[in-house]
Amino acid sequence: MEPIVATPSAPAAAPQGVPALAECHFYHSIDLPVHGFQPGLWDLRHNVDAYLGHVPVAGWRVLEVGTANGFLCFELEKRGAEVVAYDLSPEHDWDIVPYGGRVDPEIQQDRRRHIGRLNNAWRLSHHLFGSRARLVHGTAYTIPEEIGPVDIATFGSILLHLRDPFLALQKAAALTTGTMIVTELVPGFFDARRNEFLPPLTNDPEAIPDAVIPPLTFHPDPDRKSPWETWWYLSPRLVSRFLRILGFPSTRVSFHTQRYVDRDIWLYTVVGRRG
Ligand SMILES: C[S@@+](CC[C@H](N)C(=O)[O-])C[C@H]1O[C@@H](n2cnc3c(N)ncnc32)[C@H](O)[C@@H]1O
Repeated sequence: MEPIVATPSAPAAAPQGVPALAECHFYHSIDLPVHGFQPGLWDLRHNVDAYLGHVPVAGWRVLEVGTANGFLCFELEKRGAEVVAYDLSPEHDWDIVPYGGRVDPEIQQDRRRHIGRLNNAWRLSHHLFGSRARLVHGTAYTIPEEIGPVDIATFGSILLHLRDPFLALQKAAALTTGTMIVTELVPGFFDARRNEFLPPLTNDPEAIPDAVIPPLTFHPDPDRKSPWETWWYLSPRLVSRFLRILGFPSTRVSFHTQRYVDRDIWLYTVVGRRG
């Protein structure tokens, strides 16, 4: 597959059906043809390979779960992968924490609008990059079998937002013949510049004691009624055990930092392989 290149001659006026820049939300910073740099909350541009666990993807079919505005999708494609990107649409609901026993309808409506703007950003970027990736919509619990087998599935910073992270992994694992890549925040949102977290000197998730990174931390606080969009912090050891249960017996972990607004935050990536 040809690498995607930013062509200065890409059309400024998009064809019908391609969203305008003003209709888009960029969660990841991205350099777009024609429109140039678009700032996002997270800027993964300088450490993408670490984010993806340094797994070679050229020639492989990749399911990218939780694509947002597609930064990782288009990076995977640049590296030679055939990508099926997957995310919610305004027809599907985020797992909103139901404080007081009910989902706040205002938050729900607002989230649907937000997802629509993320979907728009994906579609505009897709057009500008001349991408061949596909975008499929649904929840992480209903990943359709019709996508067919993929060699690799990626879960970038999505499990923390899912009420049932194991079920989502199970659904993707059922389609994945080779490798699962799971990237999550190190619990605590540590600022690397202040040396707030020193990664353990191991790539074996089982060697990281639960006292260093607790297996599962429940994040919603009933008193503060916040956050409404995040459920869990998971340890690499727990993610590794999930993957081993799902048929990926060989797992390794690596730690890396990524830029969030003006800080470098610690994340980890677990790579699980079949057989
Ligand atoms: C924090 S962003 C991560 C984006 C990107 N994968 C990354 O690694 O930076 C989480 C993404 O997962 C999607 N998402 C959240 N809940 C979901 C659900 N229940 N089913 C499918 N996608 C979901 C969001 O729409 C968003 O695009």
